[in-house]
Amino acid sequence: MSRVAYVNGRYELYGEAGVHIDDRGYQFADAVYEVIAVIGGRLLDEEPHLDRLERSLRELAIAMPMTREALKVVLRETIRQNRVRGGIVYIQISRGVAPRDHGFPKDTAPSLVVTARRIKGASAAAVNDGVGVITVPDIRWSRADIKSTSLLPNVLAKQTARDAKAFEAWQVDENGFVTEGSSTNAWIVTKDGELVTHPADRSILNGITRLGVLAAAKRQGLKIVERPFTVEDAKNAKEAFLSSTTSHVLAVVSIDGKAVGNGHPGETTMKLRQAYLANFGLAGGEFR
Ligand code: PDD
Repeated sequence: MSRVAYVNGRYELYGEAGVHIDDRGYQFADAVYEVIAVIGGRLLDEEPHLDRLERSLRELAIAMPMTREALKVVLRETIRQNRVRGGIVYIQISRGVAPRDHGFPKDTAPSLVVTARRIKGASAAAVNDGVGVITVPDIRWSRADIKSTSLLPNVLAKQTARDAKAFEAWQVDENGFVTEGSSTNAWIVTKDGELVTHPADRSILNGITRLGVLAAAKRQGLKIVERPFTVEDAKNAKEAFLSSTTSHVLAVVSIDGKAVGNGHPGETTMKLRQAYLANFGLAGGEFR
């Protein structure tokens, strides 16, 4: 099957699709993006993802290239043409193509690229046994709440994790607080049973999965505290986990090589994973 990408109004062969070399996304990372999970052919939390996309665009004064309804048609058509039942759809919108100059170009249409592909998602071992994280300094800019494609610090953090055979790198700010992972949000459950995650200020991306987990936690009557926690807090926690569109909820069983709790996925974590997925009518989080 040949894959297809949507690029500025056309469905093109994936292998040949491209944007101009003067695209500002390519030159300045002057672009935003979204990743939406597709399970059973259905887009999970499509509206909140599109809300966040529109917010990111607003914050950077980039225009929405088409109406939300039209974009939804493009997402479905891209998913259909790529025959994705379980996978992800990727949306990227840049400020457009213009001769390289830092200031915003005038009268330039934004570029829109949509791709879709099958993914397997987290392995059964990652779901059942949990994953390890390492910690790295958070060297990002102070607007991590905008889902921009300027991901170099995140890329470096993830590679540091891979080199250390860890699943993720938790980024730590200058005050010693864990902000979030390179592509996931970070959580702990304290020994008092409090569910703790960094508040959704400008230093983290307000994950759509994060919002789903918070809603699930509320339904379960958990005590939720949105406050920063330190690496020490995390190492001494009863449980830890991470959340994202492609991982859903994964238990974190070690931090910098030190076991969290008994070194196995915690009960609260696994219940939250279940409750988060159950809200979509899903028993397991497999991408199929
Ligand atoms: N990453 N924090 C960061 C820095 C992220 O890049 C992401 C998502 C998240 C989790 O957000 P959500 O629950 O909305 O996926 C948190 C996506 C999946 C990516 O870059 O591929």
